Amino acid sequence: MYKVAVIPGDGTGPEVVREGLKVLEAVADSEGLDYQDKMYDFGGDRYLASGETLPDEYLDELRSFDAIYLGAIGHPEVEPGILETGILLKIRFALDQYINLRPVKLYPGVDTPLKDKGPSDIDFVVVRENTEGLYAGTGGFLRKGTADEVAVQESVNTRKGVERCLRYAFEYCRRRDREKNLTLCGKTNVLTYAWNLWERAFYEMAEDYPDIKTDYAHVDAICMWFVKNPEWFDVVVTDNMFGDIITDLGAMIQGGMGIAAGGNINPEGTSMFEPIGGSAPKYTGKDVINPLAAICAMQMMLDNFGEKKAADKVERAVIRVCSEDLESLSAGQMGKSTSEVGDLVVKYIQEE
Ligand code: IPM
Ligand code: MN
Repeated sequence: MYKVAVIPGDGTGPEVVREGLKVLEAVADSEGLDYQDKMYDFGGDRYLASGETLPDEYLDELRSFDAIYLGAIGHPEVEPGILETGILLKIRFALDQYINLRPVKLYPGVDTPLKDKGPSDIDFVVVRENTEGLYAGTGGFLRKGTADEVAVQESVNTRKGVERCLRYAFEYCRRRDREKNLTLCGKTNVLTYAWNLWERAFYEMAEDYPDIKTDYAHVDAICMWFVKNPEWFDVVVTDNMFGDIITDLGAMIQGGMGIAAGGNINPEGTSMFEPIGGSAPKYTGKDVINPLAAICAMQMMLDNFGEKKAADKVERAVIRVCSEDLESLSAGQMGKSTSEVGDLVVKYIQEE
């Protein structure tokens, strides 16, 4: 019995989560999986009503689940940063979800803005460190509010934090068993402390993995190559900030926020799966947002449970919808409503 905590969150989050749960129900039926879900109302509305983001006493409760399924966090009436740090980052940090896993895979039938590139060219995974770097929250102000104000924001890179991320990336690359090529993405030429540590740890660890080819790319250069030669990449490992940035670029080349999903992974604990686009307030309640990203996040959750057959079934159904049913993956331009897209995925799962 899998226990899943569901946080639909803000904006279009609840609409896409509803479709993801429909898909979970269908695939659980067809594969004979048992699960139980429990809803949590963390998000902008709860904050506006009570001043609470995610009270500490819920953290232990969340830890008792096998996974967390998240819709979106972000509310137009709440100052930026409050919900992000109070809910999303709080869960990532408190549950020590030290990997942010972001597949960049172009499905057949999906348009990419990259000319002359197709599904065989765009199929890589970014392993983003998820608890340290610039996100650690260290730094501060000096002389705040004066003409001599100073703001310092530090990047925290611990040997342990870097190593566990690299270890995961090497193991993931081996399991993925494609090109067996792991690229470290950093900025060794300028950020000479942080990336020196990453680089040393990377090449030391590479000795344990003679079957895996390693290379290195600067973060600015990788932005060029994701566009020009995405086929060069198999698994890319990087820090929190660079991972945040390059995975938005990755999302665009795989067809946009309508399809891009990610997992916040604690390999030894409770992981959280989410579509990586935001709460899209302007589309809220219109039944036009694409739920496929949330459905792909559900697929990642199943995969993380080790339910490979169920996960593959969901993926095949998503591919069918992309190639047979949708005019575009963009909100409002799909030629189908949010719920119709979810229904089609369910139908294809049931038809198999
Ligand atoms: C993401 C988001 C978050 C991040 C924000 C909402 C805090 O952009 O998941 O990529 O920066 O990690
Ligand atoms: Mn981001």
